[in-house]
Amino acid sequence: MRISIIGSGYVGLVSGACFAELGHRVLCVDNNRKKITSLKKGIIPIYEPGLDKLIASNIKKKRLGFSSSIKEAVQKSEIIFIAVGTPALENGEADLTYIENVARNIALNMDGYRLIVEKSTVPVETGEWVKKTISTHIRHKTEFDVASNPEFLREGVAINDFMQPDRIVIGVESKRAKDLLLKLYKPLKAPVVVTNIKSAELIKHASNSFLAAKISFINALSRICDRVGADVIEVARGIGLDKRIGLDFLKAGIGYGGSCFPKDLDAFINISSKLGYDFKFLKATKEINDEQKEYVLQKIKDALWIIKDKTIGVLGLAFKPDTDDIRNSPALDIITSLKREGAKIKVYDPRAQAKSREILEKVQFCRNPYELSRGCDCLLVITEWEEFKKLDFSRIKKQMRLPLVVDARNIYSPEKLKQLGFQYVGIGHR
Ligand code: NAD
Ligand code: UGA
Repeated sequence: MRISIIGSGYVGLVSGACFAELGHRVLCVDNNRKKITSLKKGIIPIYEPGLDKLIASNIKKKRLGFSSSIKEAVQKSEIIFIAVGTPALENGEADLTYIENVARNIALNMDGYRLIVEKSTVPVETGEWVKKTISTHIRHKTEFDVASNPEFLREGVAINDFMQPDRIVIGVESKRAKDLLLKLYKPLKAPVVVTNIKSAELIKHASNSFLAAKISFINALSRICDRVGADVIEVARGIGLDKRIGLDFLKAGIGYGGSCFPKDLDAFINISSKLGYDFKFLKATKEINDEQKEYVLQKIKDALWIIKDKTIGVLGLAFKPDTDDIRNSPALDIITSLKREGAKIKVYDPRAQAKSREILEKVQFCRNPYELSRGCDCLLVITEWEEFKKLDFSRIKKQMRLPLVVDARNIYSPEKLKQLGFQYVGIGHR
């Protein structure tokens, strides 16, 4: 099938490359011309494991192309996915400017039936607005359908998540739209949930909110564990083995970050309030998450007493491992707070250094964890990269001024580090 994807970011590029791998002919479009020029040269603007190879092989098979023209996309495809960003406005509301802009441009170029699919995460009832926008701007009277097909991939494991999804959700209002999407996804042998558009939109916000709530629940529990000397890792396993609860998303730490959970919770709280419902449950989830960063900061203060002029080595800048994405990364907030208190900051991340250099000022970027630990009063782990789990702590101890490890992801064994002479501070884990 011939499809286009408007918006070639984390979701657009991964979906485009995967649809091409399934045998479809895909055009990935973006209004960032620099990005499109790079992609045409085979330069991938993001780090996502396996994506470079998947893109290269599908370009070679002539199933994947790039363009900055929505007109070309509309001419060449029957199905057009919208995968542009839907960031949060100041008040938490989702900014749907890019969605509206793309919908208008699609309408202006349509000369026959097209299926326009929301892939971006949007508040419930956005589909109604997309339909209205297209009807208003369409030049040649023709039939069209709007559908919602939310994406559930996670960065770092995006290709696997796309190719082996737990489920595919399609929100449709016509048989034609349903049949087109079922045919498109047929090669993926996953359960398909067919709903109306509003239910599909809600499923996406509800999924992210529920996952975020699981994280806040375990982070709240970590606070109780700290008070009584219980271990949050054991508690999580003990509750998570109950299949009704599940082990996933029960890792306590510094709280969730990234480009999705924080903004999607804000957007869901906002749209619920507009619909006349005060979603207190989500407000609590968000509040606990915000507090968790303060909690880690307090732990550093409790260990060091005075932060001013102390050197803190931050391991990890990405919001999670296996990505270079630093959008809403807890690392950035905690670095800002530590700098405000007068700390000297050294940082190291295996993949997110380049993007961090664009926004982090007055920090020392290091080439590896050993260079980072030299002269530090505290080693602070923010991202659980595999590389950090295998460090030579005997070597690190010799280099640090004070042997203190604040493990904001609970990746180390407290006993082992204590045996080596470190002071170990975990999150509900000691
Ligand atoms: P992104 O910022 O990485 O990519 C968005 C792209 O859209 C950018 O390259 C931008 O230049 C382009 N764009 C903006 N306006 C455009 C226009 N008018 N015409 C053409 N291109 C335009 O964002 P992302 O992380 O890929 O997220 C996209 C959407 O998918 C969001 O709604 C997000 O919530 C959702 N989502 C993201 C993930 C994820 O893991 N990142 C997972 C599931 C869903
Ligand atoms: C999340 C969802 O998992 C995806 O299903 C969804 O498609 C995506 O958002 C989206 O809508 O954009 P992502 O943000 O890429 O994916 O990464 P996650 O693995 O969900 O992690 C999100 C944050 O939660 C990270 O900061 C991570 O460190 C944190 N987290 C995750 C925890 O603190 N504890 C956990 O147990 C799991």
